[in-house]
Amino acid sequence: MSPAEPIWQVFSDRQSLVEAAVALIRQAEAASGDTFSIALAGGQTPLALYRRLAREHMNWEKWRVYFGDERCLPPDHPDRNSLQARLALLDHVPITPEHIFTPPMELGPAGAASRYGAMLANAGEFDLVLLGLGEDGHTASLFPQHDMGAGPDAPDVLPVFDAPKPPAERVTLSTKRLSNAKQVVFLVTGESKREAVRRWRSGEPIPAARISARQGVIILADSAAYPD
Ligand code: 6PG
Repeated sequence: MSPAEPIWQVFSDRQSLVEAAVALIRQAEAASGDTFSIALAGGQTPLALYRRLAREHMNWEKWRVYFGDERCLPPDHPDRNSLQARLALLDHVPITPEHIFTPPMELGPAGAASRYGAMLANAGEFDLVLLGLGEDGHTASLFPQHDMGAGPDAPDVLPVFDAPKPPAERVTLSTKRLSNAKQVVFLVTGESKREAVRRWRSGEPIPAARISARQGVIILADSAAYPD
């Protein structure tokens, strides 16, 4: 059965997109069980949302935080997705450090992929996955003409050695693992994403379009990224 079509929601400005994302996160947390497992998106787009979330009163003790992908850089390197998430959100809310699962990138792509896969072994279905969209249609670190990890036997975590978006070395959750989710929400802003959005809407199988979720995929886009 092919996955349901994603739902596009377009916003005239980024602040209203952020508020809609906060509402979706709050709704997903309320629908979760004893824990709320969330995979965070990397890149710059979600940072405004993370900073806004840091001002919210959520059931933080329920949160179990994962990362959709991570870059092979030192832990204090400003381009690390996990550091960006800490500075914008995780260091400002009462989530116990043991509930934040950061890929051990010091092991390099292969080692980190294997260890992070083990860390995910008992995570089960994500309650929510947040993802971004690259100009070439990538999401997380699933790039065109690269292993998508979409098959039923695909590993949860893939090493990446030649990412076209620097740095070249990364780890990424596979298409299969990202789709093992109750809900997936994409955050897409800015004119630079317009072509990728056009391709997605025209049905091209860009990596982002390969992600599904049990209760469906929602794409929050601003009008700069989503031309009429
Ligand atoms: C990464 C991200 C990547 C990102 C997109 C969009 O590590 O690069 O996970 O998938 O979400 O490239 O990046 P921006 O939000 O910075 O445009």
